[in-house]
Amino acid sequence: MTYIILAPMQGYADFTMRQILSKIGGFDEVVSEFVRITHTRHSLKTWQKKVPELKMGAKTLSGVPCTVQLLGSDADNMAENALVAVLAGAQKIDLNFGCPAPVVNRHSGGAALLDKPELIYRIVSTIKNRLPENIVLTAKMRLGLRDTSKTIDCANAIKDGGAMSLTVHARTKDEQYNPPAHWEWFAIIQAAVKIPLIANGDIFSPDDYQRLLKICTPDGIMLGRGVLRNPFLALQIKGLITDTIDTTKIIAVLNRFVILCQEMNMGEQYVSARLKQWLNLLQQSYPPFALLLNQIKKENNIENIKRVLASFQAA
Ligand SMILES: Cc1cc2nc3c(=O)[nH]c(=O)nc-3n(C[C@H](O)[C@H](O)[C@H](O)COP(=O)(O)O)c2cc1C
Repeated sequence: MTYIILAPMQGYADFTMRQILSKIGGFDEVVSEFVRITHTRHSLKTWQKKVPELKMGAKTLSGVPCTVQLLGSDADNMAENALVAVLAGAQKIDLNFGCPAPVVNRHSGGAALLDKPELIYRIVSTIKNRLPENIVLTAKMRLGLRDTSKTIDCANAIKDGGAMSLTVHARTKDEQYNPPAHWEWFAIIQAAVKIPLIANGDIFSPDDYQRLLKICTPDGIMLGRGVLRNPFLALQIKGLITDTIDTTKIIAVLNRFVILCQEMNMGEQYVSARLKQWLNLLQQSYPPFALLLNQIKKENNIENIKRVLASFQAA
């Protein structure tokens, strides 16, 4: 069955979102939001705060393995931090070579490294050589910074550095999130670089996945925004559910999300902000949620929000 990973998504796929989505099912792995490594060495406690799954055997509450993602450009400091993350409980480390954020790129992190395959190699190999053998190291990249002239060099650097697999978001940094994602590059990379490849970018439906399979045969896929718009997408792609996902089912998910947040003492402000943020994305797939979003726009009290959710469901 297709190996499916929940994409790291800073500001969206945080601890609570990873719990709710992995509980719905279909995921074999989730990845933390990137943890930025600059000049400091995060303490063990900081790692566990940033990635709470580390205190739970590096798994979500429903038992799905959680990989820790690091972003940085200083190979030695990243290796030191990776070792602390391992002491804190990490079993698998992923390296981010794709973040397009200017603040990150200014410090040569994320996608900026795609212009420097030799530095990518140094980072991957330094970390690989310092990690205990049982800790898995993977990497995630975009196709390039401005163009695809160094795509294969970067993929080779990641393979030669010792990463076990490579996730490719099939766009350059300059393309940001503009469609289309260039899926043809998965097959090109697979032909040139012998490393297990995880395909990522614009897989929004089971039909998209079937289209992807006509272009390449990836070793797995990674789903990001598609899952936020349809939390059942991984289950659908695996063929584990076939029923239509209507607004009632989504409201039930939102209710579970609110309850989970309350159980985790996340605070009213957090819960209402995150719920609104999620509804904002969900309304792209479910237009009636625009109305729901409007109804809770100015509401921060959780019990009131729950009442609105219940009455929306009943309507
Ligand atoms: C809001 C947001 C935050 C993201 N944060 C990260 C991140 O922390 N680390 C990372 O490697 N990629 C990050 N990404 C990129 C996604 O992991 C993924 O590669 C991208 O969204 C394409 O996949 P999709 O079309 O399935 O969404 C982020 C994307 C979005 C939209």
